[in-house]
Amino acid sequence: MSINRRQWLQQSLLASASVLVAGAPVAQGCASERPKELRDKDNLILLNWNENPYGPAESAVKAVNDAMKFANRYPDEVAAELKEKLAQKNNLRPRNFLLTAGSTEVLSLLGQHVALQKGEILSPFPTFPTALRFGERSGASIRKVDLDANDRIDLEKVLNAISDKTTMVFICNPNNPTGTEVATEDLKSFCRKVPENVLICVDEAYVEYSNAGLKGSMIGLVDELPNLIICRTFSKAYGLAGLRMGYAVSHKKNIDALSRRHLGAEISTGWPPLVAASATMNDPEFLNQCVVKNQEGKQIIYDAYDSWGVKYNPSSTNFVYARDERFEGNLVAKMKERGILITKWPTMTNHIRVSIGKPEHMKLFVEKVKDFLV
Ligand SMILES: Cc1ncc(COP(=O)(O)O)c(C=O)c1O
Repeated sequence: MSINRRQWLQQSLLASASVLVAGAPVAQGCASERPKELRDKDNLILLNWNENPYGPAESAVKAVNDAMKFANRYPDEVAAELKEKLAQKNNLRPRNFLLTAGSTEVLSLLGQHVALQKGEILSPFPTFPTALRFGERSGASIRKVDLDANDRIDLEKVLNAISDKTTMVFICNPNNPTGTEVATEDLKSFCRKVPENVLICVDEAYVEYSNAGLKGSMIGLVDELPNLIICRTFSKAYGLAGLRMGYAVSHKKNIDALSRRHLGAEISTGWPPLVAASATMNDPEFLNQCVVKNQEGKQIIYDAYDSWGVKYNPSSTNFVYARDERFEGNLVAKMKERGILITKWPTMTNHIRVSIGKPEHMKLFVEKVKDFLV
């Protein structure tokens, strides 16, 4: 039976849509759905995806608007400039950087990289699942090491779990969803002990919010450790989640290996995320303000949890993870009915993860969640 072009298009769109739906939600791996009400987001308080409520910076908005007049040109030079800027900031070279559409893209490339070698990803768990998911779907084996009783990564246990099957160790620091952070020196010493033939991926999505701050980053070890790959993002403290800009930092040989399966930021992201990231990097005041305000928002939720006796992890991120039997059941749905989106991690029931919004959002959250706790 022959079909015309329109029917063919409809069929292929339907086919690709079903593949996408089957895969969702990849980015967060959480039980909260992406709400269609986002179109109507003034009516909802979004405390579910760890977005920055203060972004984007005005400087980023201006840069994107200004860049529109160059939209007829490919953005090669601006990508090169951003790499140069990142290199200077981190005392490395542009060839140590791969610019990607959010750090999700780096994590997916790494997952697939391990799978191509029929290898194994070793990871503390629960953690941010993207690299593990992409790896598993593409044929990698996954080995999980439980967090310790305080929801911290047990580096000693992870180190002891490395075997001749291990291709990559994934460490999210600070960790999502638990909000906990391992000490900088402990992580450095861990990285140095991992055998050189095992890749180490350190996901630093929340490093700007951490207690250690940028000093807690492992980027300083990139020249020393050829098996180390750091993932960073402009989605969190930089307030650019919707523009999709992230990057990998590593030894040139790893960047080259990942680049072979990557379109290149010049093709896959285009001008807006590149110029917005660059402008925000020039705007340290914006970043500082976001980090300070995040602390203020966190204190509101800490005070409330303390007064209700709710056990929570002091957070090194822009979200707070709390475990309490009172969080069993469909609290996510009930809070949504009250206009607030929060998250539960799949497979665990007695907890919630709440992103830090503006102080007024946190006060409302406290007011609404109180009904279920007191
Ligand atoms: C730990 C961690 N890594 C990576 C990401 C991916 O962020 P993006 O793809 O927006 O850079 C997230 C997003 O929530 C995250 O929590």
